Amino acid sequence: MDIRIASPAELPAAARRFIEAMGEHTLFAFYGKMGAGKTTFIKALCEALGVEDPVTSPTFALVNEYRSATTGELIYHFDFYRIKKLEEVYDMGYEDYFYSGALCFIEWPELVEDLLPGDAVRVDIVEEADGSRRLTF
Ligand SMILES: Nc1ncnc2c1ncn2[C@@H]1O[C@H](COP(=O)(O)OP(=O)(O)O)[C@@H](O)[C@H]1O
Ligand SMILES: [Mg+2]
Repeated sequence: MDIRIASPAELPAAARRFIEAMGEHTLFAFYGKMGAGKTTFIKALCEALGVEDPVTSPTFALVNEYRSATTGELIYHFDFYRIKKLEEVYDMGYEDYFYSGALCFIEWPELVEDLLPGDAVRVDIVEEADGSRRLTF
């Protein structure tokens, strides 16, 4: 699947298309350079899923937890950018999240590659020369 996002105005529609394509998968690993738009897209996904509290980049914690006001379901948003040792990820109890059945959106999955469940869905985000974003999964 290929989703083009020409401008931030297109984020809500792009998020809806992504959600329709998620199927039964729960774990999504977002690969892309710094500034590619991972946090922005995950934020759009959470909003489309009914999260009302502000969704911000989990800068200081490895994981942020959100609850959809429409379905009541929990959503976890990880950002592993700052980890220095895999031990930090073990210590935060990553398995309880990854195997919880709740939706997990992961930034910088390459830093925890060996810990990702086999059914994790790889999502690539790139910024094109014209500033649009292309998302493939
Ligand atoms: N689809 C988009 N269209 C235009 N600008 C975007 C888009 N997605 C993200 N941006 C902008 O790019 C910058 C970096 O986005 P961010 O989501 O923080 O990237 P990442 O989490 O991949 O490092 C932000 O200023 C954001 O507003
Ligand atoms: Mg980010």
